[in-house]
Parts: sequence; structure tokens; C-alpha cells
Amino acid sequence: MPDMETIVSLCKRRGFVFQSSEIYGGIGGFWDYGPLGVELKNNIKRAWWKAMVQDRGDIVGVDAAVIMNPQVWVASGHVATFSDPLVECKNCHHRFRADKLKSDACPDCGMRGQLTEPRQFNLLFQTHVGPVEDDAAIAYLRPETAQGIFVNFQNVQQSMRRKVPFGIAQIGRSFRNEIITGNFIFRDREFEQMEMEFFVKPGTEDEWHDRWRDIRYDWWKRTFNIRDEHIRIKVIRREATTIVGPDPDDVEQEKPPHYSKGNYDVEYKFPMGWSEVEGIASRTDYDLGSHQKLSGKSLEYFDDETKEKYLPYVVEPAMGVDRSVLVALLESYQEEQVRGEKRVVLRLPHALAPIKVAVLPLARNRPEIVAIAQEIAATLRPHMMTVYDDTASIGRLYRRQDEVGTLYCVTVDHQSAIPSDEKYDGKVTIRDRDTMEQIRVPVAEVKDVLVAKLAS
Ligand code: GAP
Repeated sequence: MPDMETIVSLCKRRGFVFQSSEIYGGIGGFWDYGPLGVELKNNIKRAWWKAMVQDRGDIVGVDAAVIMNPQVWVASGHVATFSDPLVECKNCHHRFRADKLKSDACPDCGMRGQLTEPRQFNLLFQTHVGPVEDDAAIAYLRPETAQGIFVNFQNVQQSMRRKVPFGIAQIGRSFRNEIITGNFIFRDREFEQMEMEFFVKPGTEDEWHDRWRDIRYDWWKRTFNIRDEHIRIKVIRREATTIVGPDPDDVEQEKPPHYSKGNYDVEYKFPMGWSEVEGIASRTDYDLGSHQKLSGKSLEYFDDETKEKYLPYVVEPAMGVDRSVLVALLESYQEEQVRGEKRVVLRLPHALAPIKVAVLPLARNRPEIVAIAQEIAATLRPHMMTVYDDTASIGRLYRRQDEVGTLYCVTVDHQSAIPSDEKYDGKVTIRDRDTMEQIRVPVAEVKDVLVAKLAS
């Protein structure tokens, strides 16, 4: 597995991720996705939406507002309890999360015994709604997308005539004023979540919790092609925290979040150690119950077959998109030796690769070659993400495309385009990223060959 610096450097060099507002020195915990990053991120989001909504009959989607009535965050418990313990070094004045420190020495200046007593620091970002900046106008940027689903539970259930069990899915931005950010896009202050709240009959939640653990573990393995030794499940119960999978002894005891009676966390082996990429929480009726109490509106569900009325329980698989981008890059990055030279190749799964095909004219000063290459690119564009690149020698162009995970390169050469060339065959070369095998294909068949390859 590559180290983090290798991935950070690749991301900047090749247009995946840039520091936000870099020309002003950046801003901690915020990142911008470049042309290739946004493609990769969109492909991951598409894969999730397909698996969670499109391929299933029992989940529908929403897209709720980022800013909600502040009472939402009172009911959810975030105003009162969404905080981390903060300490400050009296020597260098840097701040840290007390629960992440290993000793009483400052991690930055090394002074011992200079850390203040921990105080609780609330992670909600505050803003004001409207022109008056008084307390009555305070609102929060959502710290999770989940609450936009809970407060719409009845709207969705009734408008879509849904019967429990069913789920509501959402993809969107969340904001947390994290004390410490870092490890590139792993912990950010603005990030994207993909969350699904699955509403079940009380008493069936444990069975659904196990089922969602298995579905989500399989999704991670399949979507990112993750090796067995890089993924595991952390079981967080009130009594104990245990590991199912690799490195079972590498675990710290912790408690489930305030809203959960137990969590299964999907963990990935990042360069900095095992860390959470998705939490699958058994949220009981904590959220619907709290909203019902504070709003004074009944959120009960009526089962018209059994004539029962109840508050559904909830099982929630919640993942971070940015962390999954990092997983995709780390898991697919490979360096290999090809004819004595280092080849860097991003073996991204087909569905995730930002660019499916690159069309490369071998000589940009030959109009016959350029014309055919441009025509092929134009024919492919409606069918797959295609780029046209003539800015370097063919060897460098291949290396550049391998490094960003492009699945196929189509090369147009003299043999393809110049009838007076003694080897003229009217065919182009299609090169496979993984095997580096090259086949010659008539120009008119390139689209069908590539469409068939992508479909398989
Ligand atoms: N609704 C439940 C919830 O928000 P969470 O464990 O706090 O649970 C879910 O967040 C996922 O969101 C995490 O597994 C992680 O992938 C992502 N996430 C949370 N905080 C993040 C941050 N500061 N930066 C990037 N991703 C984050």
C-alpha cells in the first residue's frame, strides 16, 4: 500500500484533489475536487445510489436542505452533546482532542505537563438566518444528513404510500467544526455523506442490523475491490468493542454514539491505521421519539394490516464519500516494473475509473491522423467518459493515463490513417490498462468494441 504523501502528490499533480483556496494559503479541513476527482466521486455516489435505491424496491431518496430549523438539532441531541474534549498547550497554544493524545506531552512542541484541563467543544457550525444577527436567528449547518430524513419520515411514508420496513436514502454535504483535521481528505470540516435510514418494526431491529452489516460489507468489498486483509468490522456494544476480521487485538474500547444502542463500523486499513469508513447504527426510536416530543407532532406509523400503531425503529448505514475516495485511491494504487522502468497504475474498478478511454494521436502534425482521432473521440463521448490528448509522446501519454486509472487508450498512427503508408490497414490500437495488451480494430468498430468491453 502506498503512503499518504504518494497519494496526496498524485491527487494534486493529476487533478483529483486540491487544497481549498490554495492561492491564499488554503484553509484547514476544506478540499476542492478537480476534474478527475469529481468524476471519481460521482462514480462512487452513482454506485451507492444504484445499490441502495435503484436496485432495491424498498428504499427511496430525498435531498433535504443543509440548514434546518434549529430545533431539529436540539431534538437530535447535537446542540447539547455533539462535542469533543479540547485541550490547549500553554506553551505553543496549539489545540488537540484530549481523547486522541497518548501522553501529557504536547504533540507539537513536546512540552510535558502544559496541557489545560479538557473542556467540551461543540462541533456544530453556526450561522445566522436573515439580516439580524441575534440569538433568535442562529442556525446550524447540518453535521449529518440523517436528520433531514427523520423530519421527512411522514412526508415520504405518506406521499409514497410506503409500508414498514422501508428506507430513505440521501447523499449530501455535512459540516463539523472538527478540532483536528488531517490525513488528507479523511477528516474534514466540510464533507459528503451517504446515509440511509431503514425504518423497521420494533423487535426486528437486531435482525435488520445484522443484515445491513452484511450488505454494506459486501458493497465495500465489491465496489472498491478491497483485499480481505484491508477491511474488517468493529462491533461496538455498550459492554465491549470487538473486531471481526484482521488484527483483532488492534482495538480500543469505545461506546456507541449517543443515539445508538450498538454500532457495526466498517473499518479500512489506512496508512495511519485502522479507521472507520462507515457506521451502521441501531438508532432505535431515538430520533423519531425526540422529534415527536419536541415538535408535539405524532410521528407514529399505522400498520393498516395489523392495525398496530408504533414509532418505527431505525437501522442506519452511514458512510463518508471523501473517505471512500481515499479508499479507492489507496486500494488501487500500484507500482510495478515494466521493462526495467517503474509503471504507476491506478487499477480502479471499471465503474469507478474517472476516464474510460483516452484517444491519442501518434503525430499531432499529421492532419489525417488528427482527423481520425478527433472523429473517434467525438463518436465515443456520448457513450463513455473520453479524453483526447496529444500533448506528449505516446510513452508519456500512456504513463499519464495509467496513473489516473484510464481503462483503455486508443492510438491512431500512420498505419491507421495514411493510405500511402506501406503498412496501412485503417485500424487503430486499443490498449488495455491492466494487461497492457494491444489489439488492432477497424476505426468503424472502435465504439462497439469498447462499449462491449465496458459492459462486461
Ligand atoms: N448519521 C450518523 C453519522 O453521521 P458518523 O459516524 O458521525 O455517523 C458517518 O459519520 C460517516 O461520515 C463516517 O463513517 C465517515 O465516513 C464520515 N465522516 C464523519 N465525520 C467526517 C469528517 N469530519 N470528515 C470526513 N468524513 C466524515
